[in-house]
Amino acid sequence: MDFFRPLHGVLHAEDVPLPRIAEDVGTPVYVYSRATLERHARVFREALAPLGVDGHGPLIAFAVKANPNLAVLRVLQRQGFGADVVSGGELRRALAAGMTPEKIVFSGVGKTRAELELGLDEGIGQFNIESREEGRELASLAAARGIAAPACLRVNPDVDAKTHAKISTGKAENKFGVPLIRAREVFAELAALEGLNLRGVAIHIGSQLADLEPLEAAFAKVGRLVADLRAAGHAVTHVDLGGGLGVPYKAGEVLPSPAEYGAMVARATAGWNVHLTFEPGRVIAGNAGVLLTRVVRVKLGGNGPPFVIVDAAMNDLARPALYGAWHDFDAVAPSGERMTANIVGPICETGDTFATDRECDALVAGDLAVFRTAGAYGATMASSYNSRGFVAEVLVDGDKFAVVADRIDAAAIMDAERVPEWLD
Ligand code: LLP
Repeated sequence: MDFFRPLHGVLHAEDVPLPRIAEDVGTPVYVYSRATLERHARVFREALAPLGVDGHGPLIAFAVKANPNLAVLRVLQRQGFGADVVSGGELRRALAAGMTPEKIVFSGVGKTRAELELGLDEGIGQFNIESREEGRELASLAAARGIAAPACLRVNPDVDAKTHAKISTGKAENKFGVPLIRAREVFAELAALEGLNLRGVAIHIGSQLADLEPLEAAFAKVGRLVADLRAAGHAVTHVDLGGGLGVPYKAGEVLPSPAEYGAMVARATAGWNVHLTFEPGRVIAGNAGVLLTRVVRVKLGGNGPPFVIVDAAMNDLARPALYGAWHDFDAVAPSGERMTANIVGPICETGDTFATDRECDALVAGDLAVFRTAGAYGATMASSYNSRGFVAEVLVDGDKFAVVADRIDAAAIMDAERVPEWLD
C-alpha cells in the first residue's frame, strides 16, 4: 500500500498535488513518500519481530543500493533500521544518515583493501565475506589493528530464485558467495584466523522474488550448514538471510506479503537459535516513489500505436531498458479517456522505451504522468547518457515537501571535464 492517490481528480503524494512539485522543481523528478516508507518499514519490522532473541527484534539492514538518498536513509534510520552496504560510498552514506556502525553490514564480492579498511576503522557491525581470499585479506588487516572483524561467510546455495537472470544471485554459476560444497572447509580455515570473529553465515539469492519457495529451499540448506558447522565445533550465533522480497509493479498484482514471508522464515529457522539479519531493499522503497514526468509531445508511428514521448528517459529510470521491467504509467490528471501507446523517452536509441503497446490514460503534450514503483533502483541507477543531467529527488511528508537531491544539470557535469593543454 502506498500514499500516491488521486484526490479531486489529481494524483497526490500524501497531501501534496503532484503538479505543485512539477511547477516548483521541474520534471523529470523522483518523488518519495515518507508515510509510505515508514509504513513499509513498520510492516516489515512487525512481520519479523517474533524472530528476535533476547527481547530484541532481528537486525533489519536496508539495502542502500535500492535507494541511497540521505533523506530516505534518515527516515529508515529513525525506524531503527541499519544498512546493508556494498561500497565505501554506501558505507559513508549510511554513516552520514546517522546509522550506528554496529547496524551496518558490508556485502559485495569486490570490496577493495581501502573499503575493508574503512569498514574496520568505522567499526561496522558485520562483514559478509564472499570468498576465502577476501576473508584472508580482511583477517590480516584486522589483525594488524589488533582487532577481530565481526563476520559472516556468504554462501551460494545454488538455488534458482526464479527471477530475472540479471538479478539472480544464488545459482552456482553466479559470482556471489562461497559454493555450499566448499563452505565447511572455508569456514574452518577462516574461523581459525586471529583477525576474524567468524560468527555465522549469510545468503542472498536474488531480487524481486515473487515466490517464497526458492527462499525456503535456500534457508533449509543454510539450516543444514549451521548444524554441520556446529557439529564441527564452530560457534554459529548469526545468520543473515539477505533481501529479495518482490513488490507488485502492476496494479492488482499480488505478491507474498511481509507477513507470509515472516511466517515462512519462522518455519525455516525454527530451532536455529541465532541472531537473524535481513537486508530488504525493494520491498521497503519500491512503492514509496514515483518518477514524475511531462509529455513532450505525442507523434504518430508508421504502424502501431502513437509514441508518447516523455521528458524522462532510460538514463533516469533504467529498469525497463535493462530488464524489460514493467512500471505502471498513469496520468496525473486523467481525463477518463484511454489510449494505447508506445511510451518512450528522448534518448537516441530504440532501447529508450518504457512500454510498448501499453493501454494507458490518454495524454497530450504538456500533460504530467508518473512511472510508479520507482522508489527502488530508480534514481540510483541513473546515468548522464546523451548529456542529460541527473534528475532531482523530492521527499513528501504530509502537506510539505523538500528537494532532497538537487538536479545536476549537464553543464555541472561538463564542469568536471577538461581539455588538456596539449590539445590546444
Ligand atoms: N542484499 C544483497 C547482498 C543484495 O545484493 C541485494 C540486492 C539486496 C540485499 C536487496 O535486495 P532487494 O530486497 O531489494 O531485492 N537493479 C535491480 C536489482 C538489483 C538487486 C541487487 N542486489 C533492479 O532494478 O531490479
